[in-house]
Amino acid sequence: MSSTKQKLFLSLSAEAQRCLICSEMRDKTAVLSELNGSLDPRVLFIAEAPGRQGADRTRRPFWGDKSGENFQVLLDSIGLRREEIFITNAVLCSPRKPNGANRNPKKSEIKNCANFLRRTIDLIDPKIIATLGAVSLEALKLLENHSFFVRSHAGKIVSWNSKILVPLYHPSPQVIASHRRMDQQLKDYAALGEAISNLEAAARMKFDR
Ligand code: URA
Repeated sequence: MSSTKQKLFLSLSAEAQRCLICSEMRDKTAVLSELNGSLDPRVLFIAEAPGRQGADRTRRPFWGDKSGENFQVLLDSIGLRREEIFITNAVLCSPRKPNGANRNPKKSEIKNCANFLRRTIDLIDPKIIATLGAVSLEALKLLENHSFFVRSHAGKIVSWNSKILVPLYHPSPQVIASHRRMDQQLKDYAALGEAISNLEAAARMKFDR
């Protein structure tokens, strides 16, 4: 990875960490640092927002909570290692209810953070993006419109903004219990594994020619 890319990322991450735009999250710090993963990832994952027990506490997306444990099982199923991926969120700070519990990010917060999402994608420039849940798939529309829905496109390999996109469900225990069981999510991840294999085989063929 080039040192220019690393420098630009550090500057983006410092800017995000100083951001005070969302009035209800001024006391929170954006989860965007080298702990989010590789700047030359095989896949860029985009989730919803840092959770109280997970990323907001550990500063590392999907680390330290049950969603993270589920995500690890799904990554393991296709042999993807944490150091080969980058994970970011549609909203970089942790949205909370007044009692401190997690809440869904507001539309205005997703809009406020879209600039960081755009710049993260532009800088990392991944060939494959996987969205985790409806919020991140919707957030992509703010950058380049599309007509994909998690319900109809989870586990499908589609194209968005000149990139391969694989919409996936969020790996939270609630989503697994009520919307997409783990056995179904494992099948969705198999499609992501296939997208990676196809892309990397095509790159090898080009190199060997
Ligand atoms: N859930 C998310 O949506 N993002 C994280 O980073 C962790 C849990």
